[in-house]
Amino acid sequence: MDSKDWRAHNPSGSRRVIVTKELPGERWLEILTQAECRVEICTSEDVLSTSEIKAAMGSHCDGAIGQLTEDWGDELFAALKAAGAKAYSNCAVGFNNVDVAAATRYGIPVGNTPGVLTETTAEMAVALTFAAARRIGESERFLRAGRYKGWLPTLFLGELLWYKTVGVIGAGRIGDAYARMMVAGHKMNLIYFDIHQNKALEDHIAAYGEFLKSQGEQPVSCKRAAHIEDLLREADCVSLHTVLDESTHHLINTESLALMKDNAVLVNTSRGPVIDEEALVAHCQKHPDFRVGLDVFEDEPNLKPGLVDLDNVVIVPHIASATRWTRQGMATLAAGNVAAILMGYPAWQKPEISPFLEEDPPKAAPSIINAKDLGVPAYES
Ligand code: DGY
Repeated sequence: MDSKDWRAHNPSGSRRVIVTKELPGERWLEILTQAECRVEICTSEDVLSTSEIKAAMGSHCDGAIGQLTEDWGDELFAALKAAGAKAYSNCAVGFNNVDVAAATRYGIPVGNTPGVLTETTAEMAVALTFAAARRIGESERFLRAGRYKGWLPTLFLGELLWYKTVGVIGAGRIGDAYARMMVAGHKMNLIYFDIHQNKALEDHIAAYGEFLKSQGEQPVSCKRAAHIEDLLREADCVSLHTVLDESTHHLINTESLALMKDNAVLVNTSRGPVIDEEALVAHCQKHPDFRVGLDVFEDEPNLKPGLVDLDNVVIVPHIASATRWTRQGMATLAAGNVAAILMGYPAWQKPEISPFLEEDPPKAAPSIINAKDLGVPAYES
């Protein structure tokens, strides 16, 4: 990495903020410019190493916006602190790449970008579910290869999910949105697993079931599984929406895959290591009717041997949040986090972040994970 891979925006700004990748849209740059920041942006598409990020910080840096591909651990937060920085934001909702405890030790607030990925990521999980169930990837490859000789009653038979059972592991914002799309769009019964009850989701589906009954249609149901194993046995498709931590690492492994129906669909738009990918490859090789849709991978950007050869697996390169609106929103929130902390603003407390996407946003940092631990004052409207 050399200096030609960095460009400066608002070079006369008095605060120096480094941003490790180009971000979409203009709003995020306006926010940082209004906060008097000189913004130095890495224009290379290569994933930056810890030493490259440290070199970019130099001896003086007021804040940084980083990516989920980078290891924001003790070493980087120590360097950030030494450079005089006051704020860091991940440009992602997930922050398994960030050692928040280390940042807190160095007194650095850490931001993330919740709220703008919800429907976008849920839509991709729906897309992967049907791409896998209806064999979109393999049938497209077949067609492009010139192998289609005419309609056949037996060509690429897949699974109908209408009124079957959808399993959702992790019923937070994205899992909740996916569940609603699958239940309302495809009349599926829901079984979910989460350490917290999602009462709003349960009530929503109960009301929808009543509505269907009132129309003379078969109602749908919703239940919270006491054990993941019950969900895996029962569901016709399972979508993963957990965070990645020690408790969810390899949550889906040889044993759990063995519990699933032979013709089930498994979808992952959360984090790759939630699935033991080697075990998944072995399972898919043995069970050709088992279908999978993956947006994330255990050793991203690398795939475990054998995965690309499997026709029963649909794979896309971590693009579940890749809509213009969402990615611009993520950039806006990440910039808002850093700019607000540099300006001495308090931390927003509500889950609803849409005011930050509008003109004249609140004078607050939209989402600071360690705000309470660091005593960042709470925003009061
Ligand atoms: C995130 O923000 O955590 C997503 O994985 C990006 O798509």
